[in-house]
Amino acid sequence: MLVTGGTRGIGLAVSRSLVVAGARVVLTGRDATAAAEIAAALAADHPSGEAVGVAADVRDPASLRAAVAVAAERYGRLDALVANAGVGRMAHIQELSDDDWREVIDTNLTGAYHSVRAALDALVASGGTIVTIGSLAGAHAFAGGAAYNASKFGLVGFTEAIMHDLRELGVRVATVMPGSVATGFSRRSGGDDAWKLQAEDVAEAVLFVLRNPGRALPSRIELRPARRRPTGGN
Ligand SMILES: NC(=O)c1ccc[n+]([C@@H]2O[C@H](COP(=O)([O-])OP(=O)(O)OC[C@H]3O[C@@H](n4cnc5c(N)ncnc54)[C@H](OP(=O)(O)O)[C@@H]3O)[C@@H](O)[C@H]2O)c1
Repeated sequence: MLVTGGTRGIGLAVSRSLVVAGARVVLTGRDATAAAEIAAALAADHPSGEAVGVAADVRDPASLRAAVAVAAERYGRLDALVANAGVGRMAHIQELSDDDWREVIDTNLTGAYHSVRAALDALVASGGTIVTIGSLAGAHAFAGGAAYNASKFGLVGFTEAIMHDLRELGVRVATVMPGSVATGFSRRSGGDDAWKLQAEDVAEAVLFVLRNPGRALPSRIELRPARRRPTGGN
């Protein structure tokens, strides 16, 4: 299993759930030491599975190919890609910088494309599964979301298109679209996070897709906090 952005937040929760379930996980982040230490801690805490951490920036296709090669060398196969790595830069269009636009699109959208391209041959060979971490921001726009909404609307469309491309090849493709999750990513208001989803809730949805090897493909899961945001929203 390959989890991009597995060093924190949702990607770490997904990686942990997979290792607990007995999977062999390659998790990535931009920093080699952090990725290696986090994977080593996961593996030590949960001897049911295995984990290795490698540096791979999703904006860099070569680093993703190297991460896939690690999975092939250590584990002999790749059964799933969880394309999770993402950044949020929220600004109204009047204030949005070109750099922030590029970072968000290059990471959240083009990064998922590079991740899929790097893993594709291995996933076709294994009859594997791709899960992208979309967002409700990929279906509902909001003020300040010009770059983020564009990246996630694009990611949801990309995921759906490749689901149609790849189902005939035996590769299952799904997107999990969470609402607000209590991670460092979205802690903007500094207020009470009790109403938000937890990263483990998203991990549960990812595992639901991965454990569902039958005829049915839950190709798009919208995951909302059961309680509404105190100020309203999706
Ligand atoms: N939190 C929410 O409310 C929420 C809601 C819906 C969807 N999502 C989506 O869920 C995903 C994870 O978000 P999160 O809340 O878990 O955020 P987070 O806690 O900030 O974690 C982001 C992860 O992405 C990695 N990352 C960032 N840029 C990267 C790059 N260029 N290459 C490789 N890895 C990179 C980070 O690793 P390093 O820093 O170690 O490189 C980190 O592991 C994102 O796609 C986000 O859009 C989040």
